[in-house]
Amino acid sequence: MEKKTFYITTPIYYPSGKPHIGHCYCTLACDAIARYKRMQGYDVMFLTGTDEHGLKIEQNAEKEGITPKEYVDRVAKQFQDLWKLLNISNDKFIRTTDDYHVAAVQKIFKELYDRGDIYKGEYKGWYCTPCESFWTDTQVKDGKCPDCGREVKMANEEAYFFRLSKYAEPLLKYYEDHPDFIQPDSRKNEMIRFIKQGLEDLCVSRTSFSWGIPVTFDPKHVVYVWVDALTNYITALGYGSGDDSLYRKFWPADVHFVGKEIVRFHTIIWPAMLMALDLPLPKQVYGHGWLLFGDGSKMSKSKGNVVDPLVLCGRYGVDAVRYFLLREIPFGADGLFTNEALIGRINADLANDLGNLLSRTTAMVEKYFGGTIPALRESAPIDDEIISMALELRKKCDEAVDGYQFSVALTEIWKLVARANKYIDETAPWALGKDETKQARLAAVLYNLCEVLRIASILIRPFLPDTAPKIQEQLGASADELTYEAAAKWGMLPPDAKITKGEALYPRIDVEKEIEALNRLIPNPAAKAEEKPAEDAKKPEGVAQIGIEDFAKVDLRAAFVKACEPVKGSKKLLKLTLDDGKGERTVASGISKWYKPKDLIGRTVVVVSNLKPAKLCGVESQGMILAADAGEDDVRVVFLEDVPAGSKIR
Ligand code: MSP
Repeated sequence: MEKKTFYITTPIYYPSGKPHIGHCYCTLACDAIARYKRMQGYDVMFLTGTDEHGLKIEQNAEKEGITPKEYVDRVAKQFQDLWKLLNISNDKFIRTTDDYHVAAVQKIFKELYDRGDIYKGEYKGWYCTPCESFWTDTQVKDGKCPDCGREVKMANEEAYFFRLSKYAEPLLKYYEDHPDFIQPDSRKNEMIRFIKQGLEDLCVSRTSFSWGIPVTFDPKHVVYVWVDALTNYITALGYGSGDDSLYRKFWPADVHFVGKEIVRFHTIIWPAMLMALDLPLPKQVYGHGWLLFGDGSKMSKSKGNVVDPLVLCGRYGVDAVRYFLLREIPFGADGLFTNEALIGRINADLANDLGNLLSRTTAMVEKYFGGTIPALRESAPIDDEIISMALELRKKCDEAVDGYQFSVALTEIWKLVARANKYIDETAPWALGKDETKQARLAAVLYNLCEVLRIASILIRPFLPDTAPKIQEQLGASADELTYEAAAKWGMLPPDAKITKGEALYPRIDVEKEIEALNRLIPNPAAKAEEKPAEDAKKPEGVAQIGIEDFAKVDLRAAFVKACEPVKGSKKLLKLTLDDGKGERTVASGISKWYKPKDLIGRTVVVVSNLKPAKLCGVESQGMILAADAGEDDVRVVFLEDVPAGSKIR
C-alpha cells in the first residue's frame, strides 16, 4: 500500500540580513510537525528556502560593493548552515534564484497573461521602498507605511497587473466551503473583512529595479515579489520545469505555515493565482504569531534587538532552544522571548523534571540491580494511574500535533514526566531497596519508570531529536521498542535491557550568573546609545607610531569558532578550532579566566592569521585572536557580527 503523503512549508525567508531567532521559530515548528508525521509513517515533503529577489537585496549588495547574486549566495548559506545546526529535517531548500524556479515563474507569468488574468497598465500609488510595497490612500497612515511605519512616496510606473479583483467572490465561497482553510479562525475573519472592503488588481511587475526574474515577452519588466515568491511552493516540486512527479505526488500542500503579517498574501493572492491557473489550492494556511522581544517589539534586524540563535545554541545546546520556542508559545499567538524565561524553562522542565527523572531512575536501577531489572515484578494498584496516563499519551500528542499545537503536546508529555517524579516520591524506592522482601516490588517500580521514559522519549523525539536518543541509550532500548507503534504499548522494554546512568541531560544553570553573561553577550542597543564617549580619551602611551605599510603586514581575518576546549595541563589556555574561510586552524588563547568554551563556540572572532606558529602547552597555535584589556582584570574578546569567515579586516 502506498504511504499517505504530507506536504508542509515555511515561508521563504528574505536573505536581507542574517537569520535571527524569529526566523527559527516557524522553521522549528514545521520541523517538529514533519518529524512527527514521518514517525507516524507519512511520506513527508518539508520545504523551506530563501526569497532572493527585489529592490532591498539589490540595495544591500550595492552598499557592500558586491553583486546581488554574491550577496544572496552568502546569506542563503547562513540560513542553510543554521538549519543544519538546528537539526532541521527539510527535504528541499529552494532559492528563488535557482534556474528551475526562474524558468517556471516565467512560464506561469506568460500563462496568466495568455489567459487574460495578467494585463498591462500603469501603477500609481504610495510606495514604501524598504517594504517594496505600494499602498492605497486608505492604507497609508499619516504618510507612513502601514507595515513598517516608515515614510512612503507617490510613485507611478508602467506595470503588469493580476486581476485579483475578479476572485473576491470565488475566494469568499472557497472559505465558506473549506472552513479550515485559514487557521486560526481569528485570521480567517480578518481575511473575510479584508476581501469585503473590495479587492484591487495586483501589480505584478516592476521596471524600477532589475534584480528580479525578467518577463520573457517584455524584458524591461521583472516579475514583482509575490508571483515570484508564492509560486515556490509548486516550482520546488518541479511544476513548470520538466519532471513534475513530485508535484503530482505532493500537491496540494497540507499546510503552509506563515507569520501573521503574510497570511493575507497566502490566503488571497496565492489561492487566486492558483484558481487562475486551474490548479488545486493548498489545504490549509496556518498564521502563527510573532516572537516578541523583551520590550514587546517584533524582533527585527532594523530594530537592533536580534537574538543570535548561534549564541544560544552554543551556550545551551540546540534542543534547549528548540524546546523553549516550541513549548513557551502557543502556536498562533504572539510570545515573549526573554533570557529569563529561556533559562527558567531549561532549569525547570529539562534539567529538573526530565533530567532528574532519567538520572534518578537509571541511578537506582544501577544501584539496586546492577543495571538489569529482574523479571520478577510485583505490581500494585498505585501503578495503574501512571500506566494508563502513559498509554493515553500518544493519542493526546497526535491530537495536539494534528491541530499544530505542539506546546500542548509538550505539556502533555511533561505532565507524564511530572507524574512519574511524583510516583518516585509515593513509592519511595530507596525504602524498598533496604528491605530484602520488597525486591519484586522495587523491580516493578523501576521498570514502570523506565517504561514511562521509553514512551516519553519516542514522543519527545520529533521536538528534541538529540535528547531523545540519549534517553533511549541510557534505557538500553532497541529500535523495535522505539517505534510510533511501541509508544502505545506497555511492557516493551525487554527484561535483559542494560540500563546505565549516563551524563546529565541538562546541567542546571546558575540563573544570575548566566543572565549577566548573556546581557554582556547580547548587545543592548538602548544601553549602548546612552554610553557617552570618553571626553578626554587619551592616546595610548609608549607605543611608537607606525606607517600604514607596517600595519598592512598584519593579516587580520574574521574566523568562526567551530569548537573550543580547555588545554589539558593549563589553567589559562583555551584551544579554539577556527574556520578562517580557507580551512581549519587551531589557536591557543590565554582567556580561560574570562571565557568558557560555550561563550565562544558559534561566534566570529578576529585572528592574526600570519603570526608565526608557536607551541603553547603542547598545542601548536596557528595565530592569535584579538581581545581588549577592558579593565584591571577583565579581558574581552573582540567579536564580529554578520561578517563571513575569511573576511579581511583592515
Ligand atoms: N519572503 C517573504 C515570504 C514569502 S513566502 C512565499 C517574507 N520573508 S521574511 O523573511 O520577512 O519573513 C519570513 C517569515 O519569518 C514570516 O512568516 C515572518 O512572520 C517570520 N518572522 C520574522 N520575524 C519573526 C518573529 N520575530 N517572530 C516570528 N516569526 C517572524 O515575508
